[in-house]
Amino acid sequence: MKKKLNSIVKNQFGTVSPWIKNNLCRDQKRNKILLDIASGNGRHSLFASSLGYQVISADLKLEKLYIIKNNNQNLTINIDFETKFNWPFKDNIFDVIIVTNYLHRALFKNIFNGLKKNGILIYETFSIENIQFGKPENPDFLLKPQELLQLARKYHMKIINYEELITNFPKNKAVQRICTKKL
Ligand SMILES: C[S@@+](CC[C@H](N)C(=O)[O-])C[C@H]1O[C@@H](n2cnc3c(N)ncnc32)[C@H](O)[C@@H]1O
Repeated sequence: MKKKLNSIVKNQFGTVSPWIKNNLCRDQKRNKILLDIASGNGRHSLFASSLGYQVISADLKLEKLYIIKNNNQNLTINIDFETKFNWPFKDNIFDVIIVTNYLHRALFKNIFNGLKKNGILIYETFSIENIQFGKPENPDFLLKPQELLQLARKYHMKIINYEELITNFPKNKAVQRICTKKL
């Protein structure tokens, strides 16, 4: 299914982030394995499935995963990423990892290790400037200036796209977002 880069995509679980949509749509190969970390009820998992990815949706909340499971064939994993045994995956197995509106810094190393060579990380979440617009307000859940950029540099990843901005879509929020490749 070909998606236009400038169109808004919605599914029954919400509006697909343009950052996720545009960066996934640039990736032309199909049947790749994609991990959606803290997937929620699966707006991005479902979109990725529609493009042909084999999607693994992972989240703390079982009820959200049931929604995904009932609506498509995605593999779902009920997991607490913030406990000691928080990463059940082998190294070098994912072609793509996506994370949106979730931050747990201790996972950064796992994410990098989980990607295959040439694997893509697409990450988008709130930055510290978002405090002016409301929650989240806890700095643990807010990215510091250029933090995702520094993360990619730390692991010698190729930066494909990077933005820090205040967007009004679908509502006012301050975000940082990156699309980066493991070399
Ligand atoms: C704001 S929602 C974002 C959902 C989805 N990524 C999206 O953008 O639509 C945050 C998600 O993180 C999940 N979450 C929070 N803490 C978690 C944890 N410790 N382990 C796994 N998932 C967690 C929540 O259950 C929730 O679905």
